[in-house]
Amino acid sequence: MIEKKISSGSARAVKKFKVNTGQLEIGMFVCELDCPWEDTDFLMQGFTVDSQRDIEALQARCSFVYIETFSEKRIEIEKHAKSPPVGTKKRISAEKVNLKKQRPLESEIQQASHTYVGAKKAVQSFMGDVIRNKSIDIQEARAVVNECIGSVSRNPDAMMLLSQLKNKDEYTSQHSLNVCLYSLMLGRRMGLTGHELETAGLCGMLHDMGKLRTPIEILNKPGKLTDEEFQAIKMHPTHGREILLSSDKAVDQEVVEAAYMHHERLRGGGYPEGLTEVNIPFHTRIVTIADVYDAITSARVYDGSRSHLEATRILTENRGKDFDEDMVIRFIAGLGLYPPGSFLEMTNGEVAIVLENHATSRLMPKLLRIMDADKALTEERIIDLADEPRDEAGQRYAVASVLPHEAYGASFKSYYQRGLFANISHL
Ligand SMILES: [Fe+2]
Repeated sequence: MIEKKISSGSARAVKKFKVNTGQLEIGMFVCELDCPWEDTDFLMQGFTVDSQRDIEALQARCSFVYIETFSEKRIEIEKHAKSPPVGTKKRISAEKVNLKKQRPLESEIQQASHTYVGAKKAVQSFMGDVIRNKSIDIQEARAVVNECIGSVSRNPDAMMLLSQLKNKDEYTSQHSLNVCLYSLMLGRRMGLTGHELETAGLCGMLHDMGKLRTPIEILNKPGKLTDEEFQAIKMHPTHGREILLSSDKAVDQEVVEAAYMHHERLRGGGYPEGLTEVNIPFHTRIVTIADVYDAITSARVYDGSRSHLEATRILTENRGKDFDEDMVIRFIAGLGLYPPGSFLEMTNGEVAIVLENHATSRLMPKLLRIMDADKALTEERIIDLADEPRDEAGQRYAVASVLPHEAYGASFKSYYQRGLFANISHL
């Protein structure tokens, strides 16, 4: 039995017990498993059992676990504790999220495509409303986010794959939808569920509506912006807030905050107000990371896209400075080393597109091979690296390097348009 003290304003003595999973009950706090957490679908290292499903999931994975219980005696340790920073509030209450895929990619991709196309049209319609000075239908936007949550919960890789269908001429609508999807992915990994997860998606979807008040020639200007032009760009969070506050129906505070603060940075230095960590809300932090990642990895009219590795390097280098450290780690873990849609060169010279990652062996994704060793297009074939396949020479078939997006002239979009991803179960 191990005793320790925790400090959360006032603290209680904590006792830890070993319990057979057959004896688990709803309400117990599981603090340790009989196997590494990384080998399970439970993200948080420590969570409360709150359903029979949790018990069954633990029984399927473990023979015994350790639970924590609190003694009655409370130990006052910090009577005048400061309130936690705004952004840490939810992190404390986030318990766990079941990230297990409920449906194979082959089954989800068709429904996800339908949802993705519908969501993109809806975003374009919201943008049209803003341009015509009409109010955004927030209920409709929530319904669209909910459709996306359904798909992401069944299999997040389907939507992540579709987020690669980028078209630089539709940057703002594409970006809004992708930031919504990335916010949902990160929100789930932060333990958000229900209304809070929905709000995270809505924050992402509507965060940049203020850009529709910025002159298009400034948004799409190649090369360096003048001071005046940069000032005009920096007005878009303020415009975004005004647009949302003038909605017919009440918009959640988190959504307005994300529109207004998504360019703020933890140590100041952002805009429009140069706020610091304690004033930047939780949902805004999620959107900020999703926004930066998508902006870096998307081609604009005036600029090419940069790779997943480059984007994760920038986020990692600035974690804890510009971006919430814990969220950056979870975001990158969520995308994996080879996110769906990545182009890979294999050890035998073939080229493949990543279809999906496995929850427990994320370095061995499922691929769609599209080119032979001479980089000639070849008959597509699904190869699952988790099966440890061999190439024709009998060597282990493995990833040699990550290629730039659409390497060797291969177009991700053309595979999508040919219906390949909708029919991958037949390949
Ligand atoms: Fe923005």
